[in-house]
Amino acid sequence: MHKSWNELKIECLKCTQCPLSETRNNVVFGIGNEKAEVLLIGEGPGENEDLQGEPFVGKAGQLLDKMLNYIDLDRKKNIYIANIVKCRPPKNRDPFPEEQEACIPWLRNQTLLIRPKIIVCLGRIAAMKIIKPDIKITKDHGTLYNKNGFLFIPILHPAAILRNPSSELDALKDFLKLKEKIKQICNSTY
Ligand code: URA
Repeated sequence: MHKSWNELKIECLKCTQCPLSETRNNVVFGIGNEKAEVLLIGEGPGENEDLQGEPFVGKAGQLLDKMLNYIDLDRKKNIYIANIVKCRPPKNRDPFPEEQEACIPWLRNQTLLIRPKIIVCLGRIAAMKIIKPDIKITKDHGTLYNKNGFLFIPILHPAAILRNPSSELDALKDFLKLKEKIKQICNSTY
């Protein structure tokens, strides 16, 4: 059911739909402009995010902010950032399919409220869950997909770029492509 932001956030912060709720410190609900035309979706909180209750605040988050700034996007101004799962998987393992299924209604409701024009999937897990299960992020990153009235673009996960710094250039090219698309179809982002 479609809830208001207040109602949604209050309920989400109390969620016990999956076992990740038992080990979390904080539900990482999401951050940014609730009227953004661009929504970024990551995989799930890591240690720093779990402690601070905000997505992408660790090393990968700092790299993400740098790449976002490169194309004049800012989590405090013109985008919204959320994750597939809102509670940290222990030892940062991939979230299990059933945890993703249990959590995704919160993200769906957020998406309905934001009504973004473009959805950026950061990394393999988000791209597989949101765009298509057989997506190959190393090959398909930077490709635009139209689905259900939204435009989707998968981009390499900043943590993957930290593990393989030579891929940063690929990600920056994808961000430039995103910028061009924003200029074409968004009215209030820039
Ligand atoms: N990685 C993610 O996918 N999301 C975060 O919020 C932090 C790291």
